[in-house]
Amino acid sequence: MPENDLSPTVFVLYGATGDLARRMVLPAFYQLAQHGLLPADWRLIGSGRGERSDEEFVEHVQGALDEFASGTGDGPWEEFSQRLRFAGGGFTEEDPGQLLDAVDTARKELGDEAQLVHYLSLPPKAFTGYTKAIGEHSLANGARIVYEKPFGASPEGFRELDELVHSVFDEEQVFRIDHFLGKEGTQDLHALRFANGLFEHIWSREHIAQVQIDVPEDLDVADRAEFYDATGATLDMLVTHLFQVAAEVAMEPPVSFKADDILAARESVLAKFRPLQPEDVVLGQFEGYRELDGVPDDSDTDTFVAARLCIDSGRWRGVPFLLRTGKKMAAKQQRVSLILHRPKGPVDDVPANGNVVSLSLAGAGSVDIDVMAKKPGPDLAMAPARVSLDLSKIPGGDPLPPYVSLIHDVLVGDRSLFTTSEGLAQTWRALQPVLDAKPEVHPYAPGSWGPAAANELAGEHGWLLGQTET
Ligand code: BG6
Repeated sequence: MPENDLSPTVFVLYGATGDLARRMVLPAFYQLAQHGLLPADWRLIGSGRGERSDEEFVEHVQGALDEFASGTGDGPWEEFSQRLRFAGGGFTEEDPGQLLDAVDTARKELGDEAQLVHYLSLPPKAFTGYTKAIGEHSLANGARIVYEKPFGASPEGFRELDELVHSVFDEEQVFRIDHFLGKEGTQDLHALRFANGLFEHIWSREHIAQVQIDVPEDLDVADRAEFYDATGATLDMLVTHLFQVAAEVAMEPPVSFKADDILAARESVLAKFRPLQPEDVVLGQFEGYRELDGVPDDSDTDTFVAARLCIDSGRWRGVPFLLRTGKKMAAKQQRVSLILHRPKGPVDDVPANGNVVSLSLAGAGSVDIDVMAKKPGPDLAMAPARVSLDLSKIPGGDPLPPYVSLIHDVLVGDRSLFTTSEGLAQTWRALQPVLDAKPEVHPYAPGSWGPAAANELAGEHGWLLGQTET
């Protein structure tokens, strides 16, 4: 039995038989059950266009857990499966299919106080129609709604969707997912910085020379080339994940650790991002990309982006935030690194990257601190060394994957790790000049660290990843 006091919840999963639900949402929901993090009573109603019985949907969910999680053997499957329902016939403004009846029945079973959560596990182009339908069929009142990324794929698309959503929901009801904010490592940025003088005291331009947020990926995009070609690295990763993580690093201390205060702190620093100029950005495309099925022969889509972002706050004036990501690169990593200024003192041969505080956002996360130490031996000679903390090894820890953590936050009503309307408007503002004048797209070799032009952005420090074995 869960040891929480969450109210009974009706969780409507739109696109329940689609790919995203199978891979991410359904496995995450089951993991919540395994961790005892679901409300004591709940129903999950899968909504879809086809017709399925509840039993067939249960089989579908079981299949998803077998394929994308550790199966149903280890956990409360019996109890879990009894709470799954399916409402077929689609859901549009004109025709709600079987959903209204299914929600009604679930509410009768759980009581009128039951919390209603809508989860749109749908392609972004479907957000508009489903949002309107939810409003039209009076399912918005008091409910929460979850949107997947991207919430609008252009400044205009964002504004239109935002207006529509606000005509149906209040901002407080809306949860827009950016799963990088849900990573254990990202959340640890708050904890480490604000709970440790060791970190908080150095977190500013006085001590930090440069910040790098580096997310190289070694995979290509063959399995979703068509979507990717219409999106590219800048929209898929930079204006979303990398900007949000940059804001997490750059924010001022929140007034408290309450959700609203953390949200407000991240929000206000997004407004200080100086708009990126085309010369601050290097785009790349890996050689062979145009040969992928679904990619036009003359595609100009960026599969790599590197940017030098300035943040116009007293804390960060003059400190470049270097952001980089790309497909088919030499390695898969997710690193946030703060490079410290060389110490002022008698040791005059400290290398430019001798002192670095770095967090890995992958998996359960880790913290690595590069220091200079005395090389053991008779002489007073210096050598680089690394202190590492694997966050999964913290006693009593029970790391949660980002989707699990974020769906839990939705159930609890904690919006601190979700993006907001104002914040997203600021990210588009900061990207606008690059959309108006797209920089040249340079080719790069698969398995490399991207086009050479990106190295100049990093200045004397260079990109940390790719220089050293990390
Ligand atoms: C997704 C992007 O949002 O994040 C993908 O669309 C990217 O292109 C993925 O590969 C990376 O996230 P993670 O955490 O799954 O490595």
